[in-house]
Amino acid sequence: MTLRRRAALALAAGAATGCATAQPVPAMPVGIDGAGLHQRAAAKGLAFGAAVSTRQLVDPAMESLIRAECGLLVAEYEMKWAELEPQAGDRRFRRADILVAFARRHGMALRGHTLVWHESEPAWLGGLDARATAAAMAVHVDATVRHWRGAIGTWDVVNEAVAPEDGRPDWLRRTPLLERLGPDHIALAFHLAHTADPAARLAYNDFGCEHATFWSRRRRVGVLALLRGLLRAGVPVHVLGMQAHLQAGQPFEAREWRGFLAEVAALGLTIEVTELDVNDAALPAAVAARDQAAAALVRRFLDATLAEPAVRAVVAWGLSDRDSWVRQGRLPEHRRRDGTQARPLPFDEALRRKPMWAAIAGALDAAPVRG
Ligand code: XIL
Repeated sequence: MTLRRRAALALAAGAATGCATAQPVPAMPVGIDGAGLHQRAAAKGLAFGAAVSTRQLVDPAMESLIRAECGLLVAEYEMKWAELEPQAGDRRFRRADILVAFARRHGMALRGHTLVWHESEPAWLGGLDARATAAAMAVHVDATVRHWRGAIGTWDVVNEAVAPEDGRPDWLRRTPLLERLGPDHIALAFHLAHTADPAARLAYNDFGCEHATFWSRRRRVGVLALLRGLLRAGVPVHVLGMQAHLQAGQPFEAREWRGFLAEVAALGLTIEVTELDVNDAALPAAVAARDQAAAALVRRFLDATLAEPAVRAVVAWGLSDRDSWVRQGRLPEHRRRDGTQARPLPFDEALRRKPMWAAIAGALDAAPVRG
């Protein structure tokens, strides 16, 4: 029996026993063979991919890992407004073009991330009045979507617009664009993107909805209210992107989560997991136990998520721990008190498969085939 066949059986056995309860995910022998995540996803009519950056493409080992595991790519930051237009009117598509060319050369789909996000607005926008701001946003959305017209399958048009804690009656985030242009700038961005590329699917993308906590529940209510309002107004929204930055240590209830996904699907939207990773700061330092716990959470989350037929893609926010944004320590909750490095993604620093890889593989193998 070949190694490949033995590995496939081992993974299948792992998939068979790794049911939705918190079963330990089988430890992955280093370098075990086995079909890549993209192939497993495609066998079910799903897409699997990852966020990548152009600097990763110059690393031969990473480039071949991306090609082995991904059928879909998204730019970690090269397509964000602040990167695309550092000075007003000075549009710079070249770096993201490298990524788009790589994906197209290797037959990979692309997500566009993200046209309007309060954390990636160019600094010069702050000096404009409302009229000039609206014009700048309109030109940015139109020029960007037109530049990659036909290449981007789904655009994250607006990212993270819900923030109940900001105290507005509509639970929208008090962003500079919202303060200056009002909530209608959200609908405007979607209409502009649709006009620029009528074939692109347009997504609203957000985070923090996944767990069985008051905070997540409130965010789910806010996201649903936003989606319903946009759809009632005839805004071309086709996809809900759920970032799925999972928090180890926070409760996850499959039934509750599936109920939310069913409500979204009932609106006629498809759903994409857009930024999957695990913040393991609350887990013990011991690597084996930490990896197993993170993998078990991912398996439970994906088993519940992929049971919803409207879910069509799973994108990890990176492939290897070494590139994870969690290690940047931007957010206080990402910082481990013991000073050890976070392990949020399916591959370790040496690009070896971790138990989280087996968890994703098992969930994809167990997922129902999409029509
Ligand atoms: C992050 C990138 O991963 C970092 O490299 C960058 O410094 C900041 O942005 N939600 C999002 C992503 O939608 O765009 C963010 O990506 C992570 C949170």
